Amino acid sequence: VNEPPSTFLAIRRIHMSLTENQSPLHLSQRAKWASEQPIGHLMASALARPELISLAAGFVDPATLPIDITRQAFEAMMSSDAEAKTALQYGSTLGDTQLRTALVESLAQADGRTCEEMSLSADQVIITAGSNQLLHLLGDVLFDPGDIVLCAAPTYVVFLGVLTSLGVRSVGIETDSAGIVPESLEETLKQLEQAGELGRVKAIYAVSYSDNPTSATLSVDRRSRLVQLAQQWSREGRIHVIEDVAYRELRYEGSDLPSMRSFDSEGHTVIVAGTFSKSYSPGIRVGWGILPPDLVVPVVNQKGNVDFGSPHFSQRLLAHVLQSGQYTEHVEQLRESYRTKMEAMVAAADRYLAPISGVRWEKPLGGLYVWLELPKFIEAGPSGKLFDLAVEQGMLYVPGEYFYPSEGEPVRKNRIRLSFGVQSNSGIDAGVAALGRAIEQAITVSEC
Ligand SMILES: Cc1ncc(COP(=O)(O)O)c(C=O)c1O
Repeated sequence: VNEPPSTFLAIRRIHMSLTENQSPLHLSQRAKWASEQPIGHLMASALARPELISLAAGFVDPATLPIDITRQAFEAMMSSDAEAKTALQYGSTLGDTQLRTALVESLAQADGRTCEEMSLSADQVIITAGSNQLLHLLGDVLFDPGDIVLCAAPTYVVFLGVLTSLGVRSVGIETDSAGIVPESLEETLKQLEQAGELGRVKAIYAVSYSDNPTSATLSVDRRSRLVQLAQQWSREGRIHVIEDVAYRELRYEGSDLPSMRSFDSEGHTVIVAGTFSKSYSPGIRVGWGILPPDLVVPVVNQKGNVDFGSPHFSQRLLAHVLQSGQYTEHVEQLRESYRTKMEAMVAAADRYLAPISGVRWEKPLGGLYVWLELPKFIEAGPSGKLFDLAVEQGMLYVPGEYFYPSEGEPVRKNRIRLSFGVQSNSGIDAGVAALGRAIEQAITVSEC
């Protein structure tokens, strides 16, 4: 009774009284399926330990965030009462018309086609709170527990988490530096058909430009082949291609490639998931989807249950930014800045990692990541020593094993994802040097 008051004790008392007086918590099946995202934990530890050089989280470069452009767009938006009132009001579930129109036009332009040629209209575009929300909505609308999604092995970990939380099986397909290998995809489809499971295959997920984590970009012939395969194998129900274009604008070498959507002339197969998080700002949290016409109403219905429209303010702000023409300039600058950082990371890898036998990587042409292969006997994840050694040396990375689908291609434990998004060139150099020391220690430990 006379205990000194403290927040901790107060919280414990509330917790005790709650757990004493209440019946046990029964979580839904989906909550049980939803395991904690390992990457979320890593991001939290990176934020909590600022002294570590983090080459882990896929955050964007703070130095290139578009402060001035955003300030000007904000001021333009707030300078008219009518505009300000619109932005501060609810919007529609589908999203801002001006933004949706700009998005279809820019997709067609990037693909060197017209909207008519691509059967594209603004009515098929939905604006979401980041493209993760779209990926989740698609999962809700298209998949039942036990359904199957075919993915690159490895691929975007958060989408794999979405699938797990829905009780959906992710099946990994062999990938190389040109993305998913079509022959392996076809082989998997054959095996699933033989096992009587073809009808459960609902989608192929492909990050077509600079995948996260490998930075592999799907080659043009594979783009058309994968769309063809999805259509050809849609015998027991439609197999969609979910084309995630998160990193399309972050390309540093070579020219842009046509989207997978451009090979789907009628637009019934490919769903495009895009975002302004990497090319502009993740804090604004605007993503978008281009949907086959018959998927629009189901996705809108589900989004109506979630939030009946993503934050209208962010959408109006981005519409201003796009209209001002400053977005294109910003992306140009961003590419320059990330190209320099990518080169700094590759140079550091050449300096500190190339001398270590069995360590390999490919120079990324875009995106934010370098994907490292280590000697086979080194485990980079929680079951090995390397992660702790790297932290002792002062750096953080993401263990590659988290990026593998739950079935199909085997999980490779000797892989690491390094991100060059956040650190300065000198931070990148110091982080890779620390990793090199940690790998050498891990090799020594395993030899003892
Ligand atoms: C491949 C890929 N898709 C989608 C996203 C999600 O981006 P957001 O939800 O911020 O739009 C990310 C973020 O890192 C990503 O790497």
